[in-house]
Amino acid sequence: MAGARQIELVNGGPVLSRLVFGAWRLLDDGRPSPEDVARLIGTAADLGLTSFDHADIYGNYEVEAAFGAGLARWGGRREDIQIISKCGIMLKSANRPGNRLKFYDTGAAHIAASAERSLKNLGTDYLDLLLIHRPDPLMDADETAAALEKLVSAGKVRAVGVSNFTPAQYDLLASRLAIPLVTNQIEHSVMETSALIDGRLDHAQRLGYAPMIWSPLGGGSLFAGDGAREHRLRAALTAVAGETGANDIGAVAIAWLLRHPARLVPVLGTMKPARLATLARALDVTLDRQQWFSILEASEGHAVS
Ligand SMILES: NC(=O)c1ccc[n+]([C@@H]2O[C@H](COP(=O)([O-])OP(=O)(O)OC[C@H]3O[C@@H](n4cnc5c(N)ncnc54)[C@H](OP(=O)(O)O)[C@@H]3O)[C@@H](O)[C@H]2O)c1
Repeated sequence: MAGARQIELVNGGPVLSRLVFGAWRLLDDGRPSPEDVARLIGTAADLGLTSFDHADIYGNYEVEAAFGAGLARWGGRREDIQIISKCGIMLKSANRPGNRLKFYDTGAAHIAASAERSLKNLGTDYLDLLLIHRPDPLMDADETAAALEKLVSAGKVRAVGVSNFTPAQYDLLASRLAIPLVTNQIEHSVMETSALIDGRLDHAQRLGYAPMIWSPLGGGSLFAGDGAREHRLRAALTAVAGETGANDIGAVAIAWLLRHPARLVPVLGTMKPARLATLARALDVTLDRQQWFSILEASEGHAVS
């Protein structure tokens, strides 16, 4: 059984760190050197964030290779970390001159080619987890399932999942797979609570998979936003930060996610080591029901009925 700082996504399935490092913003403030990236990987791993979330498209298709260059210089062992990537979104980009517009492709040829490119760019011979990035209205579930199974049979991918799927879309793909879908990576935070009521977290709890959570701090809007909701939330989070000794509103916002019984796995987006360390303290904070509901109330702007 996974320990408190790790989590088994499904029974007998892959184990990730309870907090995951999200690599989406790696190139946002310029291009870090491979040594800088290696240091960041080391810092995250030392904090217990041993799982790293990627997608083929991050940084206009350039994050995976930048991360791979850092990984090659990092002194640790590949088997001590977990690498997640995604495929299925096609960006209109100078790096993909054939794409005339943004679209989705969950066909077998694209899945196979994208996974191969991710392996090459990351400099690894397997992905711990590959996700279909977004639901594709043209997804042929039999074809997509067969392409995913082929990657697993070949040892190139250890497990598969989805992202941004509705329960019905998840069930469709799962129904054609002989292997389990191990997660649905969805947006959820104190700033975006629809997953609490639209059935996505109920579905995860019913089937027993741990959903990965993207933009767990609202993509930073929790700190920067100037609306009434952000002001209410910062006040409520500050109060709970004082009561619990967490002393940081971001850590409380992450602890709010960790309190949910569906076993949420937040994917942290900051690139700042000090912020990662502060947010990792969320693992030591347990909110009681009234604290949890005070934050929901601040988010919604009214008490529950
Ligand atoms: N599956 C999908 O469709 C999907 C979509 C989006 C993202 N993702 C994944 O989810 C990950 C996280 O998303 P996200 O970056 O939006 O997550 P987030 O953790 O909600 O937001 C991170 C942003 O908040 C900023 N921030 C400002 N003050 C902060 C503070 N005190 N503490 C922490 N952060 C602060 C960070 O800036 P600094 O860097 O300056 O700290 C960063 O720009 C991504 O890296 C990616 O792996 C997946």
